[in-house]
Amino acid sequence: MIVEDQKQLTDFALDVMRRTPDPRLREIMTSLVAHLHAFVREARLSEREFQEACAIVAELGHRTTDTHNEVVLMAGSLGVSSLVCLLNNGDNGNTETNQNLLGPFWRLNSPPTRNGDSIIRCPTPGTPMFVNTRFTDMAGMPVVGAEVDVWQSNDEGFYENQDEKQVDMNLRGKFLTDANGLIAFRSIKPLGYPIPTEGPVGRLLKAQLRHPFRPAHLHFLAAKPGYKTLISQVYDSEDPRIQTDAQFGVTKALVGEYKRRADKAPAADVSGEWVSLDYAFKMEPGESRLPRPPIK
Ligand SMILES: [Fe+2]
Repeated sequence: MIVEDQKQLTDFALDVMRRTPDPRLREIMTSLVAHLHAFVREARLSEREFQEACAIVAELGHRTTDTHNEVVLMAGSLGVSSLVCLLNNGDNGNTETNQNLLGPFWRLNSPPTRNGDSIIRCPTPGTPMFVNTRFTDMAGMPVVGAEVDVWQSNDEGFYENQDEKQVDMNLRGKFLTDANGLIAFRSIKPLGYPIPTEGPVGRLLKAQLRHPFRPAHLHFLAAKPGYKTLISQVYDSEDPRIQTDAQFGVTKALVGEYKRRADKAPAADVSGEWVSLDYAFKMEPGESRLPRPPIK
């Protein structure tokens, strides 16, 4: 076919996409081309804007390394990562879910830690925090013997692998849920932190007058055969940026109450203010599969 005009060009391109042998690739490419063409029309994209867009996409790739993924950061900053998560969990987007973004900082082989023990592995300033979480199936029955990784930033918003002041694996641990589906551990209250802003994502946020911060959160990854691996974050309801997460990750189901306490803490060495967090996760049936660690 030879292109006649702009309208017929879209039909032509769609015709070509429809000839893709693999059915799923055909479905994706047909939809992508239809929406891309509609977007170009609706936004009335100029030639110069198109060239700029191509340069930005190339830069997303160039800035992606073993320790940083600008593409994932952009997907998060446009709300796409969160949309994919919400559409693929909670009975395919029909009910609430505890699933959330993995984020870049999950590592394999967190140190096995006994229930009730601390994940503080070097002197780490911060408000003492005691966390109790429960893992049940969709019917509310405890999920026993699930492996649960937890990881978090410190009081300054840094993960151990970003920070020379912390030892390897500080504020990380691997727990096993007990007979009641519980894990418990001691830590310090995490702080929210900015996403990297040196690249196109930072320029976009700046142009849109958006701050780059994520509200304070704890990360969880729970796995047991028979259950879909639960990747989650629990956000601090009192964080000043709870409503404006730069990555659109905060869902109602994942807002936790990091309670400020002044009563007797569960550890003798704690005096003054401490924080407790109690939270319950639901695990959906499905495939237990660990993600690939996002960075090396
Ligand atoms: Fe995080």
